[in-house]
Amino acid sequence: MPSLVLAGFVTFEGIDGSGKTTVSRLAAERLRSQGHAVYLTSEPTAGWLGEAVRRGIEEDVGAVAEALLFLADRAAHIPDIQSHLAKDELVLCDRYADSTYAYQGARLAGIVRDPLRFLQRASEDWVLLPDLTVLLKVPPDVAIARIKDRPDRMRFEDVTLLTKVAANYDRLAKSRRFVIVDANRSVDHAVDDAVSAIERRLPTRPGA
Ligand code: TMP
Repeated sequence: MPSLVLAGFVTFEGIDGSGKTTVSRLAAERLRSQGHAVYLTSEPTAGWLGEAVRRGIEEDVGAVAEALLFLADRAAHIPDIQSHLAKDELVLCDRYADSTYAYQGARLAGIVRDPLRFLQRASEDWVLLPDLTVLLKVPPDVAIARIKDRPDRMRFEDVTLLTKVAANYDRLAKSRRFVIVDANRSVDHAVDDAVSAIERRLPTRPGA
């Protein structure tokens, strides 16, 4: 175990096809191999609320119900994340609140007045604030080309929507909490950048 171990909450964000799931998994493996205690989790979760989210999208429950389902899934996920943070582990989450701000922020346009603000206000009193958010950036047309042959295509994999989602991510990424990683390169490069951002920006504690 290294003399100083990393602890805190890191989220991975990006449009569909940005490589976020692969990069977060490989970053977790690399950090574990360096001796850090890493808990890798994701949203939508594998629990029944995560299933409800997937079903809501498949059956097109509408943008408002869909947004509220994502918030419910997140709210129920918090105790699990907190239990690992309480053990001073490094928690990596493949998608978190910024996904809702970016995706449902786009989906709710024309339905609520200021979608991003509406979603942030609905979340701010209870959502966990990540110590760092890694935004994997890739042009929407490149992302679509990467995912077009995936068997589990979801409805959000559409270039017009993903362009709006990417613009929302750019707005959110003005916060200092974000680090932008160019994901329009090999996975290895993106993992290198993500891991070094985590090492640079996360608090450390003495190892056992
Ligand atoms: P995934 O492909 O990363 O598992 O995510 C599933 C889909 O759900 C993806 O198209 C992004 C979308 N999503 C939202 O629209 N809002 C959210 O809050 C989350 C967590 C995911």
